[in-house]
Amino acid sequence: MKVITVLNEKGGVGKTTMTMTVSAGLAIMGYRVLVIDADPQAHLTISFGVDKQYSLYDLLVRDAEFSDKNIVHAIPPEVYAMPSSEMKTDKGRLFLIPGNKETRLISQALENNLFAIRNRLAELERADLVDAVIFDTSPTPSNFHALIYLATHHILYPTEVTYLSFDGLVASIQSTTGYSEQKKKSGLEGIKLTGIIPTKFRHNLLEHQEKFASLKKGFGDLVWQPMPMSVVWEEALARRRSIFSYAYDHPAASNAWKIVRKAKEKIFDE
Ligand SMILES: Nc1ncnc2c1ncn2[C@@H]1O[C@H](COP(=O)(O)OP(=O)(O)OP(=O)(O)O)[C@@H](O)[C@H]1O
Ligand SMILES: [Mg+2]
Repeated sequence: MKVITVLNEKGGVGKTTMTMTVSAGLAIMGYRVLVIDADPQAHLTISFGVDKQYSLYDLLVRDAEFSDKNIVHAIPPEVYAMPSSEMKTDKGRLFLIPGNKETRLISQALENNLFAIRNRLAELERADLVDAVIFDTSPTPSNFHALIYLATHHILYPTEVTYLSFDGLVASIQSTTGYSEQKKKSGLEGIKLTGIIPTKFRHNLLEHQEKFASLKKGFGDLVWQPMPMSVVWEEALARRRSIFSYAYDHPAASNAWKIVRKAKEKIFDE
């Protein structure tokens, strides 16, 4: 079971959109995917049209069971996938654990139980219920991120291609490397920064072209192809659908599919 965290401590860069897209894509490919909304804003939960009365807080602090359907919600294929005639497999599954305002209280409640997320996910792995767990995180750094890092194998880092976003990227790489080293010292697996994905990209903007080129120069193959700017993302969101369900024949969806394939290669094949 692979654990992926979508991270950027800058707000509004496309973390939730990326989480939704990659989780939907992997489920379409046939993987069993659990997405966890670790943001008190609960945008991922709202985007998937899921009730947020109960949340990750209940799982971690009130010790709820994974079998509780108020906490682990099965997302219907029509929400995340293209019509079944376009699908090659029906083996994939997508589940979501909501976030809500109690999510903000998790780190305090688990002050003395830093391994809570790691231990609960280990339980899930032993039961062989899912192939990938994907965390959507909040832009506000907190100790809660540290609990997530303890369970994380891969980080996906969506970023806008603006001057200021580079600062955040460097800081983020440093803190990821720090956490990764700490984990290794304790005999755990490290954390890999697996992809930096430029978002809201405009091919015809010179500034975006230049910043993309310098990202490539600085970080090489870590930088994936950009997700172009398009209103279709907002439209899909407003309808509580993934891009594949809302507009599978739109160029943004073919682009998104390339990101999903790359994620699949890096996470499951390497
Ligand atoms: N490639 C894109 N083109 C145009 N709009 C986009 C694109 N990607 C995301 N958006 C839009 O940008 C807004 C912010 O995206 P999103 O909510 O995914 O960011 P976020 O990083 O999760 O934000 P937060 O930090 O608040 O959690 C949303 O309205 C989304 O529809
Ligand atoms: Mg978000």
